[in-house]
Amino acid sequence: MAHNPLAPEWLSPPADANTLADGLWPATAQRAEDGAITIGGVSAPDLAARFGTPLYVVDEADVRTRAADLRTAFDTEFARIGTSVRVYYAAKAFLSTDIARWMVEAGLNIDVCSGGELAVALAAGVEPGRIGFHGNNKSRAEIDQATRVGVGTIIIDSPIEIERVAEAAVRNGVVQNVRLRVNSGVHAHTHEFLATSHEDQKFGVVFEDAPALVAAIRAQPSLAFLGLHCHIGSQIFGVDGFAESASRLLTLHTELLAGGPVPELNLGGGFGIAYTSVDDPTPARRLAAGLADIVAAECASRGIPVPVIAIEPGRVIVGPAGVTLYEVGTTKPVRIGENTRLYVSVDGGMSDNARPALYGAEYSVRLADRVSDAPAALVRVAGKHCESGDIVVNADYLPGDVAPGDLVMVPATGAYCWSLASNYNYLGRPAVVAVLDGGARVIVRGETIEDLLARDAGVSDAAHEATATRSTDNMKETTR
Ligand SMILES: Cc1ncc(COP(=O)(O)O)c(C=O)c1O
Repeated sequence: MAHNPLAPEWLSPPADANTLADGLWPATAQRAEDGAITIGGVSAPDLAARFGTPLYVVDEADVRTRAADLRTAFDTEFARIGTSVRVYYAAKAFLSTDIARWMVEAGLNIDVCSGGELAVALAAGVEPGRIGFHGNNKSRAEIDQATRVGVGTIIIDSPIEIERVAEAAVRNGVVQNVRLRVNSGVHAHTHEFLATSHEDQKFGVVFEDAPALVAAIRAQPSLAFLGLHCHIGSQIFGVDGFAESASRLLTLHTELLAGGPVPELNLGGGFGIAYTSVDDPTPARRLAAGLADIVAAECASRGIPVPVIAIEPGRVIVGPAGVTLYEVGTTKPVRIGENTRLYVSVDGGMSDNARPALYGAEYSVRLADRVSDAPAALVRVAGKHCESGDIVVNADYLPGDVAPGDLVMVPATGAYCWSLASNYNYLGRPAVVAVLDGGARVIVRGETIEDLLARDAGVSDAAHEATATRSTDNMKETTR
């Protein structure tokens, strides 16, 4: 098929618009004999029939394997340079009690950044000492709760927090481990990174201010300084950005060693994943090896011991293991000059995946209930919301006979989709179903109309009852 000029330059027409591109789909995703996509041995039509659409589907084995493999890769590579690694799963990517337990079972710690995320981690039974607490504006109540329950580390994000955390620690009778988040001046995004000397952003403290702030931390008897923290961005490919940042941080780290121990260094998260067939993320083992080499070389050249390293990946663990299943409601060819783009509207949209609207993120799509020989058509998958920017997949090719009633699946939606979901237009947030070895179970229930009306103080009891009756008639009970 010829390239459609309306397609972005990076998108070539596929040889077969039914193929599940390598590296883009959960590990267990495949086409069954009838053409339907199965994940964890469960087919898309079965999932839709049992749980309704839209639906987030998580490949449990894939999440667990990714977490364990990442940990093994970093453990192995940093053991080679004589140190160890603490891997924190960045819960903001996607958190439920099941996910938290899977992480702990894979040997990971959990990084949270609000009282809500902390509550979920604790509800999952995560040992508080394994939790790191982030945030540029932690409330006093959150800081108090974190110190009271015995959170392992608090990441201090601004000078004002030093006293707040110190006071809370005194109140709760603990000595609180803290890290200091600094801006290394390195920003990375996907293939490129930018190194600046000054930063104009809300997270972390100015690099040059760090020595005085660490002295202030050390002056507080209720605080124990663990080391520096830096997060340079998200969806990063390659090691160059991390290497530059690690090098800058180790300069500061060396300076701080003159004033006392600095046992750890946290390099943050941000490891990239594939969202489209042209994305080529760096494999975890190569990333770990590259980072270990840099840290070893930088420490050797400064004559300092290699600290314990901490990292905070989120997306790379859950992103590729999740998909979203939608039902097509309408299709509409839109002619633009000589060319046509087929708009395929689905029953969700920016309320279950805000990333395209927020960041112009690109995604991919495939028919999920069948395969088709129809010539491929350039499609844009749109949601059902009242915004023209309500796009789920900006551009991909699907068999041109895609029609209302078809199921479509969008891969790589395991991170920052459920966690960024909203109730825009009063759509209930979809359920999350974990699939494993031919079984499927709800790990987060979807929202019902009753859920949506429950907080509206003006709704009468009679109206609540009527809605409850109607919504059980209209919605799939299993998930809602
Ligand atoms: C401080 C911090 N750590 C870790 C992460 C996780 O990033 P990613 O999911 O891209 O690995 C983020 C993401 O925003 C972050 O802000």
